[in-house]
Amino acid sequence: MTRILITSALPYINGIKHLGTLAGSMLPADVFARFKRAQGHETLYICATDEHGTPTELAAAEAGLDPATFCRQQHDLQADLGARFGLSWDHFGRSSSPQNHEVTQTLARQLWEGGFIEEKVTQQVYSNADGRFLPDRYVIGTCPHCGYAAARGDQCENCTRVLDPADLLSPRSAVSGSEDIEIRPSKHLFLRQSLFAERLRAWIEDKKGSWPLLVTSIALKWLDEGLQDRGITRDLEWGVPVNAADWGANPDGLRPDVEGLKGKVFYVWFDAPIEYIGATREWADATGADWERWWRGEAAADVTYVQFMGKDNVPFHTVGFPC
Ligand code: MF3
Ligand code: ZN
Repeated sequence: MTRILITSALPYINGIKHLGTLAGSMLPADVFARFKRAQGHETLYICATDEHGTPTELAAAEAGLDPATFCRQQHDLQADLGARFGLSWDHFGRSSSPQNHEVTQTLARQLWEGGFIEEKVTQQVYSNADGRFLPDRYVIGTCPHCGYAAARGDQCENCTRVLDPADLLSPRSAVSGSEDIEIRPSKHLFLRQSLFAERLRAWIEDKKGSWPLLVTSIALKWLDEGLQDRGITRDLEWGVPVNAADWGANPDGLRPDVEGLKGKVFYVWFDAPIEYIGATREWADATGADWERWWRGEAAADVTYVQFMGKDNVPFHTVGFPC
């Protein structure tokens, strides 16, 4: 009998989880897990908190806590809520766990050594008043197209045009309101998703009929538009450090720019899906179980893996994570 591995999309650490979160992915996954167990399948149902990123750092600061303390508290709160809703997770982990640091760093090193990661210098907005780099959506200003005064650096909500922070008139920090901001160059890593396009297409085509139609169409639409390479690092403090000193040369004989990458962490959408594996390792470390037989090699050949998520999460699960 096949074994069943189930994950439900990892809830962000900040913000109170409401019935919508529950109904969207956790509850369907829970029902499915209970059904499979009742049928006699060996079943593993994994979830975790998704802890990194700018919103977490800002929410922690707002609460007057450092991110680690804030996340520990919020994790315990969410674990307790899940338990009281009767969710039958085998493990509810944390994307900030040592296990996830290790898996994330190992995968990144292997991607680099395989030639699938590239370094680029990008222009980032730095706020002197806040003492931090600001992601595009935390820069606000006047839209150059429609004159809307509160347009965000990634998009104008009024005219829906996609923007670059440098397009905004009188740009300011959404965190402090300060106009004392500047553009600074910063070295970042990019996942060369374009190199995977063909293999990914074949794999997704093969899933037609077993994945929901909406999922294969979203994934193929991304491929049809041409897979873009994606920035997978950020200038933040709270996250999985890049640690490029451990990396070998890529196929062109190039070593990573260890100095230039100092102090960078992986982008939250890079380490979050990897936490599906990280959390399995947390569970295995706690129970003495074997994580690999759920994820890879011959030992995992009899595993059927089913993911539960909301529609917005589909691109990250059908394109980013598989790459
Ligand atoms: N935290 C994300 C959201 O709520 C989902 C992350 S799913 C992951 O949209 F697995 F990729 F982590
Ligand atoms: Zn506009």
